[in-house]
Amino acid sequence: MQAWVIGNWKQNPATSHDVKALLDDLLTAVSTKAQLDGCQLMVAPSLIHLTAVSERIKGSSILSAAQDISAHSASIGAYTGDCSAQQIADAGATWTILGHSERRQYHQESHDCLLQKMTHALTQNLGVIFCIGETQAQYDAKQTLAVIDAQLSVITDLLTQQPELMAGLSERLIVAYEPVWAIGTGKVPTVAEVSATHQHIKQTLASFNTALENMTVLYGGSVNADNADSFAADSMIDGALVGGASLKAESFLAIAQAF
Ligand code: G3P
Repeated sequence: MQAWVIGNWKQNPATSHDVKALLDDLLTAVSTKAQLDGCQLMVAPSLIHLTAVSERIKGSSILSAAQDISAHSASIGAYTGDCSAQQIADAGATWTILGHSERRQYHQESHDCLLQKMTHALTQNLGVIFCIGETQAQYDAKQTLAVIDAQLSVITDLLTQQPELMAGLSERLIVAYEPVWAIGTGKVPTVAEVSATHQHIKQTLASFNTALENMTVLYGGSVNADNADSFAADSMIDGALVGGASLKAESFLAIAQAF
């Protein structure tokens, strides 16, 4: 199975000059590394840099993604500050992240909002990296699987309401398990914990519909060049969604090489 290593740059780097430098480093590093076969790289820059990044990576093996799309993507119109799935696709991205915990936390993204966004993205042929994960309090209360099930219901509700979106979905949907308490903290769950959660995610989706067998499930949360090997060694972990360590070409590539 192909591995995926995706860099979520969040609200970084600070300037377009720094974005260009990071991308140049990455393209140079990719072109000189022979051992990236079987690992698909993707970067998700800030929206303002998405067009430039997508242009610059054309012809390379790197894909680009948005970090989010508007819930009001059905048409163009009066949605100040928003950017539709169609505009994202037109900017050159082929994927979008949805449901990142920072969107859920700072923008109160709900189940219904994510259902709308997922519909719009898939209708515009954008692949979706759908983020799920429990908070520290939920982890401590051993509620991880219950939280994951509730978050996965966005996918199952979507397909119950719009079964036509099922076609080819396992190629256009990636689930990223990111425990909120592991994001940017340097704390990580054990590989065994991640593996068991991924197995649960895969089984839940496959038992909903056999077309969702073999779903790609990535781990995210303080992945770095030092711990990537241990995650990569587990057959339930199909790659990584990387924040901080994706802001240096060297560490991002080291993670990709681990997978
Ligand atoms: O989406 C990636 C992410 O939230 C993990 O961030 O900085 O812990 O790798 P980081």
